[in-house]
Amino acid sequence: MIRRIAISTGGGDAPGLNAVIRAVVLSATNRGWECFGIRDGFNGILCPERYPEGGLIPITRDKVRGIGHLGGTILGTTNKGDPLQFPTIQADGSVVLRDRSGEVLVYFQKENLDALISVGGDGSLAIAHALHKKGLRVVGVPKTIDNDLDKTFTTFGFDTAVSFATDCIDRLHTTAESHHRVLVMEVMGRYAGWIGLHSGIAGAAHCILIPEIPFDIDKVADMVRRRDQQGRMYSIVVVAEGAAPAEGGRQVIEPAGHGRLERLGGVGDAVARALQERTGKEARVVVLGHLLRGGSPTSFDRLAALRFGAAAVRALDEGLSGVMVSLSHPNVVYVALEEVAGRMKSVPLDSDTLQTARDIGICLGD
Ligand code: F6P
Repeated sequence: MIRRIAISTGGGDAPGLNAVIRAVVLSATNRGWECFGIRDGFNGILCPERYPEGGLIPITRDKVRGIGHLGGTILGTTNKGDPLQFPTIQADGSVVLRDRSGEVLVYFQKENLDALISVGGDGSLAIAHALHKKGLRVVGVPKTIDNDLDKTFTTFGFDTAVSFATDCIDRLHTTAESHHRVLVMEVMGRYAGWIGLHSGIAGAAHCILIPEIPFDIDKVADMVRRRDQQGRMYSIVVVAEGAAPAEGGRQVIEPAGHGRLERLGGVGDAVARALQERTGKEARVVVLGHLLRGGSPTSFDRLAALRFGAAAVRALDEGLSGVMVSLSHPNVVYVALEEVAGRMKSVPLDSDTLQTARDIGICLGD
């Protein structure tokens, strides 16, 4: 019997989080349940001193009115608060990672919370799986602009990021053509090339470099020269942040540490420099970065997020736990969290989307 549930949003934010929260709260309160939000992932529970107004806040219908179209998350989020490896500063200033997941379970008992809806990417879903194995009733909701979560057709946030990136490529075409330049646009996506591939094709980029296909910069330079010879004096290159040359590694801004993943970035700049050197053409770089995570969710993402939130509440109502809601087009279904935790979805090399890029003559750097 469920009476009180909590919801948390963890990892990097993605457009659609507020729509999930809205759907969860409305679906739950319509069943007579009370809803609470945990602030900043699990920090609201594990670092109560940071929240004078409380790390656990009641979320009523009033609180979710008019938030469905807003980016970000009204609960806050963090990618530095994994309860299984929680960064703790020692007296000497050093940081150690401690397993504090037991405290989350105790907190749920103390607050009479019957279940958790955990909205997040691979990290948050792995945490949800671990908490489920320890006895917490948990349902996961997949979120990420990167679209790199396995066992779901897509995640909300991805469509918004792709739409924005496509719009940016459209804008780059005119200025690149006017100045006869090479314009390199770097996009996020971590170790997967979904955002780069989808926006690059939709925006008619001339070259798309993704982590799944190690690139040869000389092939990209050949493409730029070929276009020049054909009288098309500009080129647009979309580079996913995780893309790497066949000879060499990924560009990292900050190595992994203190319980957080490495920060990728810089490959766009490296590609632009190498192309300028090889072709003699002026090459510039634009890094979209966090712009891809902001803004209002597209109607596709809004609907997906609302469907996911409502389905998560239905899952709890049906007595399920340890599952993630997932889009198995056209339906929302449930998959076991253990099938998702720790698995990444890359762009399949035999996908028709990739083949489309090749068929219409986009250079993939190989
Ligand atoms: O996972 C979403 C994402 O935006 C990735 O595309 C990117 O590599 C990462 O998060 C950036 O995270 P942060 O904002 O912590 O640097």
